[in-house]
Amino acid sequence: MATENFHILTTSTFSDRLLNWFDQHGRKDLPWQQQPTPYHVWLSEIMLQQTQVSTVIPYYQRFTDRYADIASLAKASIEDVLALWTGLGYYARARNLHKAAVIMTNEHDAKMPNTIEQLIALPGVGRSTAGAIMALAHHQNYPILDGNVKRVLTRYDGISGWPGKKVIENQLWKRAEQLLPKHRIANYIQAQMDLGATVCTRSKPKCNKCPLQSDCHAFLRDIPQNYPSPRSKKIIPTRQINWLVAQLPTKEVLLQQRANTGIWGGLWSFPELNSIENIDHICMNQFNLETTKIVTQTHFRHVLSHFKLDIHPHLVSCSIDSNYITENKNFSWYKIQDALQLGLPAPVKTFLISLQ
Ligand code: ADE
Ligand code: SF4
Repeated sequence: MATENFHILTTSTFSDRLLNWFDQHGRKDLPWQQQPTPYHVWLSEIMLQQTQVSTVIPYYQRFTDRYADIASLAKASIEDVLALWTGLGYYARARNLHKAAVIMTNEHDAKMPNTIEQLIALPGVGRSTAGAIMALAHHQNYPILDGNVKRVLTRYDGISGWPGKKVIENQLWKRAEQLLPKHRIANYIQAQMDLGATVCTRSKPKCNKCPLQSDCHAFLRDIPQNYPSPRSKKIIPTRQINWLVAQLPTKEVLLQQRANTGIWGGLWSFPELNSIENIDHICMNQFNLETTKIVTQTHFRHVLSHFKLDIHPHLVSCSIDSNYITENKNFSWYKIQDALQLGLPAPVKTFLISLQ
């Protein structure tokens, strides 16, 4: 307790120290800082999600040259926007950017809205990006909580637990709000980003250059590398599935359109076999198909977010088509080339390509 009082009395506030540091070491020459209009801030923040500053700069320049404002972005075709985005990755960002520009043109007079709620309602804009736009462009006191800020705050406060977890994230938002300054919000938010990117880095943080070290929990214990806590590796189950890969002498393969629910809802896939005993009987009883040859291939693994699939393909040569399939609209024979144009789960697509 005594030590904490000591710091309160002798150390200036978190935000004052960060602002002083920013005046000396912060970045002030980034292209989007030159005219930090709401459009420029929004565009740069979206581009900077998961992408480094040095990569973003030329894209940002080409983009603003081509689309000077929200209205001209909204008028563009999505193909042109995606073409300009090529190489930047995470293309959902470009789709959402274009969608949001259309929404703003229709609903907000082609301007960025200036309330946090309206910003969060735009596609691709989460609470942190909305906070950055509020602070950097509208000079309103809102916090951000991107990866950099999460790292600084978990170290500074000694907060354990994976920051992606809801309770930890809520705690960090509260703390980020408490620490906000009463003035210079735009510089403060930029300072947080810059400190995380240049001083309080993921590995080997430069604590000796950090304005927060005098009362940083992790620095004082020499354990910055303990924060942020990693996500615990969850043990995810593995499911075995057996594919009936039926093929006619003409090489067409049998596909089934899946019901509209589940991860692959509505996509075309190989029919799944519940049992692999007597596949020829199953083919006859279920599909009225006569089989001439059955080859079971080595299985392969496909990893999804909540489980793994071990896929066992059974290649079944069929002598002739069957009425059952012709009359059932969920089933169809496809030439492989045509099948590749359908909505397919990734492993089905990969497997079809290997069959060509
Ligand atoms: N990363 C996210 N936003 C940023 C910004 N405004 N400047 C530098 N890096 C950033
Ligand atoms: Fe990060 Fe070190 Fe600064 Fe603490 S003292 S905030 S660990 S750079």
